[in-house]
Amino acid sequence: MRFDVLTLFPGLFESVFAESIVSRAINAGQVELHLHNIRDYAPGRHRVTDDTPFGGGGGMVMKVEPIMLALEAIVEADLIVEQKRSGEVQVPIILLTPVGEVFTQHMAQGLERYERLVFICGRYEGVDERIVDLAVTHEVSLGDFVLSGGEIAAMAIIEAVTRLVPGVLGDMRAIVDDSHARGLLEAPQYTRPAVYRGLTVPEVLVSGNHALVSRWRRKQALIRTWQRRPDLLANAELTEVDRNALAAHRGGSPVGEIPHDTDQRS
Ligand code: ADE
Repeated sequence: MRFDVLTLFPGLFESVFAESIVSRAINAGQVELHLHNIRDYAPGRHRVTDDTPFGGGGGMVMKVEPIMLALEAIVEADLIVEQKRSGEVQVPIILLTPVGEVFTQHMAQGLERYERLVFICGRYEGVDERIVDLAVTHEVSLGDFVLSGGEIAAMAIIEAVTRLVPGVLGDMRAIVDDSHARGLLEAPQYTRPAVYRGLTVPEVLVSGNHALVSRWRRKQALIRTWQRRPDLLANAELTEVDRNALAAHRGGSPVGEIPHDTDQRS
């Protein structure tokens, strides 16, 4: 997997990825990270990368030329045009923006299937929309909040995708059981000591009975998801056993549609 990042702040990535799973994956040759400073592609002596918005309003907008020149230096211009025309994406060109689709584990799984991903990190009030018209295949947001730029969002996506690259995590079970990997939040975890400040770990986890442990974890995952993220349950694949376990926890009420707009925490 190869990641290319267009940014005004490559140093941010260097410091974060000097440690972590991504750096191990880079050192092991499982992923490549190529950082490109957008300023290097800005024409003129002053290498200007932003300007005031047409129509007025506050803030600055990132200019179209430096970003397009940077993109065309790393991805064939014909390919950029063709994938916009046909909608068939070979190299996703991902703009990080608060107006994009919210990033999910499902999206990470989809992105991991590509050999190469290109990220454009916007700053200031955003980027000139013509970059989207000409080149961007995916607009992605990290969540419903505003960051000062796309860098932290790109790092989060690179980290989430890298964990999915085969061989990067030694124990593939960890991926399968991750929160969100199967549409549910993960069950609580414990490690030694078995008693801490009077708090014990659930009996079943020290029973040595793998079937019971597995059943307990599934039930905890269901309950947690129902309590904290009922919206996820609507799309999770639930078995009859799951539905009965949830119904029992909810005091016997049948589990069908989980309402979204009521507070179920009480
Ligand atoms: N840039 C600014 N805010 C952002 C967000 N929430 N997600 C992705 N990129 C951003």
